[in-house]
Amino acid sequence: MKGVILAGGLGTRLHPLTKVTNKHLLPVYDKPMIYYPIQALVNAGIRDIMLVTGGNSAGDFLRLLGNGKEFGLSHLSYAYQEGEGGIAAALSLTEHFVNREPVCVILGDNIIERNIIAAARAYAKQESGAKVLLKEVKDPQRFGVAVLDGDRLVRIEEKPKEPKSPYITTGIYFYDYEVFDIIRTLKPSARGELEITDVNNAYLERGRLTWDLLDGWWTDAGTFESLRLANALVAETGANKV
Ligand code: DAU
Repeated sequence: MKGVILAGGLGTRLHPLTKVTNKHLLPVYDKPMIYYPIQALVNAGIRDIMLVTGGNSAGDFLRLLGNGKEFGLSHLSYAYQEGEGGIAAALSLTEHFVNREPVCVILGDNIIERNIIAAARAYAKQESGAKVLLKEVKDPQRFGVAVLDGDRLVRIEEKPKEPKSPYITTGIYFYDYEVFDIIRTLKPSARGELEITDVNNAYLERGRLTWDLLDGWWTDAGTFESLRLANALVAETGANKV
């Protein structure tokens, strides 16, 4: 299985911290933010990883990470996203690298307490389609919200004013090769981006989306409040426990 980390975008919700540097290079406790999603993929046994970045200080990722030696990797691949076309637009840049293999995608500002290896193994057994990892949170309106009917995932609503459940899609996704065809059919949303939620809903409509609950704490780190929380959680309990 290939791994993709999406670390593009302009991080405007963290201005002025991100005025001259990239959000994913900011510290979360004792490491740059980007270390956490890389470690999450490595802990799941994924060793062939592409990092997509853009915006400010894109070249600094190469200086910081090199070939991934610090993570026990022998190589790391990179892609450059121009502008801020959305998460699905960033993912589309990895098509050549993914090369029709299954892929685990993680957003560069997502930090987890535990390990996604069980979900990766479950997805590896799934013949085709996609898998999302859900988490119960206190502020679902900030995220892609799962509309559930019992255990059945009916729909995902991106940042709804009135969330229909406390369960959100974390920024950890598993896809088959069809994801790139789906992205080609997308239209920009009201915020002008190609939305990953539209990708997941396309799989849902085909009856090809499974979901698991994510173990342990999870947070993004893209707002002042969530960045502060991420620092506290990592300092108190540590992240990416195996
Ligand atoms: O964190 C989980 C949430 O991430 C999901 O619940 C939402 O459904 C999903 O849309 C996303 O929501 P956000 O609005 O929080 O995403 P944000 O724009 O902050 O982007 C998250 C990461 O995605 C960011 O750290 C880098 C990457 N990204 C984002 C954009 C807009 C890119 O690589 N390129 C982009 O153009």
